[in-house]
Amino acid sequence: MAAAHESGVTGTKQTSAKHATMWARPGRAWPSAAARLFCASATAALAAALLASAALSQAASSPNPVEGLAAWDNIAAVIRHPRCLNCHQSEAPLRGDSRSPHIPPVTRGPDDHGPSAMRCVNCHSLTGNNPSSGVPGAPSWALARATMGWDGLSSAALCRTIKDRTRNGNRSLDAVVEHIERDSLVLWAFNPGKGRQPVPIPHQAFVDLVKAWVASGAPCPA
Ligand code: HEC
Ligand code: HEC
Repeated sequence: MAAAHESGVTGTKQTSAKHATMWARPGRAWPSAAARLFCASATAALAAALLASAALSQAASSPNPVEGLAAWDNIAAVIRHPRCLNCHQSEAPLRGDSRSPHIPPVTRGPDDHGPSAMRCVNCHSLTGNNPSSGVPGAPSWALARATMGWDGLSSAALCRTIKDRTRNGNRSLDAVVEHIERDSLVLWAFNPGKGRQPVPIPHQAFVDLVKAWVASGAPCPA
C-alpha cells in the first residue's frame, strides 16, 4: 500500500483519482472513526496514541476525499481574501479590503505587467513594500493572467480552475503547491505592509492545507 500510495501522490493524476475512488468506499473510513472514538477516552491513552499514529499514517498514505474537501473549504477562504483576489482579476487590479478600482486606472497590457507608460514596477518596487509611500511591492509584481481571474467563481468552479492546466499556467498539482510555498506574490499577501490586512492565517498553515488537499486526491466540491 505504501509503495502504491507514493506513486499516487507523486505520480500521475490518473493514479490518484483511482485511489480517491477506492478510498471513497464507506467501509474504508473506519480506522480514523475508531481513532476519534478512542481519543475521547482518557483512560485509553496508549491505545489512543497508537491509533492516532495509525490514523496519521493513514492520512499521509491514503487519499481521503472527506478530509480533502474540508481542507479545500479553508483553502478557498484564503484564495478569496482581497489580498489574493485583488490581483486575480480578469481585466484590471483592485485595491484595498473594499476592493475598489485601482487609482490611477491601470490595465494588464501585453504581458500582465501593465502598458508601456504604466508598468507595475514603475510604482510597485521589486524590493518590497514602501513604508513611507504605503505602495505595496514584491518581486514580479503583475496582474494574474486572465485565465486566473477567480473573482465571482463558485467554490467548485474555483477549485476546477486552479487544477486546470489550460488555465493555471500548465502547472501540475505539485507545481501549484510549490507556487503557494515560494511565490513572491503569494508571500506578499501574508506580509502586505502597513494599513493592509494580511491573509488571516500563517503562511505555513496555508501551505500545509494545500499539501493535505493534494495528498487527499485534490477533490473539488460537486
Ligand atoms: C500582486 C499580484 C498577485 C497577488 C497579490 C497574488 N497573486 Fe497569485 N498570481 C499572480 C500572477 C502574476 C500569477 C501568474 C504567475 C505565472 O504564471 O507566472 C499568479 C499565479 C497564481 C497561482 C498559480 C496559477 C493557478 O491557477 O494555480 C496560484 C495558485 C496563485 N497565484 C495563488 C495566489 C494566492 C493564494 C494569493 C494570495 C495568498 C495570490 N496568488 C496573490 C499575481 C498575484
Ligand atoms: C502609477 C503608479 C502605479 C502603477 C503603474 C500600478 N500601481 Fe498598483 N497601486 C498603486 C498605488 C499607489 C497603490 C496603493 C493604493 C492604496 O493604498 O490604496 C496600488 C495598489 C495596488 C494593489 C492593491 C493591493 C491591495 O490588496 O490593497 C494592487 C493589487 C495593485 N496595485 C496592482 C497593480 C498591478 C498589477 C499593476 C500593473 C498592471 C499596478 N498595480 C500598477 C500605484 C500603481
